[in-house]
Amino acid sequence: MHPSMEIRNEISRRLDGRVIVLGVTGSVAAVECFALIRDLVRHGAKVIPVMSAAAQDMVTPYSLEFASGVPPITALSGQAEHVSLLGDGKDRADLLLIYPCTANTISKMALGIDDGPVTTMATVALGSDIPVLIAPAMHDCMFRNRAVASNLQRLRDMGVKVLGPHIQDARAKVASRPEVVAQVLRALGKSDLEGRRVLIIGGRSEEPIDDMRIITNRSTGAMTSNLLEVCFERGANLECWLGATDVSMPPYIECQRFRHTHELEDLAKGKEFDMVIVPAALADFAPQPQKGKIPSDAGDLTLRLSTVPKFLPHMAGHCRLLVAFKAESGMSDEDLIARSRQRMEAQGSQLTVANDISMVGQDNGRILLVTAQEAKEVAGDKRAMAEAIIDACVDLLP
Ligand SMILES: Cc1cc2nc3c(=O)[nH]c(=O)nc-3n(C[C@H](O)[C@H](O)[C@H](O)COP(=O)(O)O)c2cc1C
Repeated sequence: MHPSMEIRNEISRRLDGRVIVLGVTGSVAAVECFALIRDLVRHGAKVIPVMSAAAQDMVTPYSLEFASGVPPITALSGQAEHVSLLGDGKDRADLLLIYPCTANTISKMALGIDDGPVTTMATVALGSDIPVLIAPAMHDCMFRNRAVASNLQRLRDMGVKVLGPHIQDARAKVASRPEVVAQVLRALGKSDLEGRRVLIIGGRSEEPIDDMRIITNRSTGAMTSNLLEVCFERGANLECWLGATDVSMPPYIECQRFRHTHELEDLAKGKEFDMVIVPAALADFAPQPQKGKIPSDAGDLTLRLSTVPKFLPHMAGHCRLLVAFKAESGMSDEDLIARSRQRMEAQGSQLTVANDISMVGQDNGRILLVTAQEAKEVAGDKRAMAEAIIDACVDLLP
């Protein structure tokens, strides 16, 4: 057994049976390919590396063979690998990913020039409607070259999905590995949220006592992170508003930060979504904040907490499907379902994810998906629960 088999499916089975042709071109970012291949294999993919001559000066074919278990194609042969892998045959690969993609390869692809194994793979894939993803990597001044920029735009117009680069400190940085893996999962996964505008409001609010101290809660943001991943992979046009969290969010999704519940109404102004999902733990009560810092030697302190107006009814006017979360402690399923339905009617939501607060901070747990008509139990880890929540949303989306 090749050593690459030891890590197959270590993360998931989401790319089982999928064949990805990975074109590698002559940028130093090619050193990232080893880890990228391993990440794709961990999701179950078979990766076939194809290397340009310049790429072979950056990384050796042996290292990519070790990573993938497949000898890289470094030159085309009488096997016509480009046609058998990316032509019209029924055993063809599912995707051509070029990572990293040089200015040279971008321009050749845009002009239909194929004078090497990677560019020939690209010409065939673009002619046979196989999805093509490229991750440009180059120095900023190459990226600003107008010929390169217009060739890149031409590729976009031809349906090529361009990942990054991300301009940072005057450098055009190649898309990160997590982003590329997520984009591959998005390209090859269920696309039942494609074209849907989805907002996820996650994290916990922080209500100030004074300029230093806050009142908050124990929500970690783990469910939000999983929901973001799932919605992204299923093709959503995604927006996220995020309070405080203990866990990091997928780095390829930009989140707009908030601290206080009252900031959310401003964020919502003029926005419309197909679906709004609110795993956020928002304050139910907040003090009247005091300026500066209450002296620590001021003696006992009595805080008067006022009820914070519920935010979800406000959001109902901004979307077609509103998904609420309800955490209670020590309640029977029947009571939890009844409370969820009462609340749904009051706030105008169509689905509630109900659970016991003992689940907070745990990887595994149990939730009830409550609608006006039914209540379904789902148990598993946060990823499995996020998948089940989105399945239910897709069924309910008008
Ligand atoms: C050390 C080194 C790093 C390079 N990095 C890049 C790069 O990041 N992006 C790029 O477009 N070209 C880069 N180049 C230039 C390409 O290797 C060169 O244009 C080559 O012809 C690309 O061929 P290919 O597209 O067939 O791989 C680099 C060259 C060297 C020597």
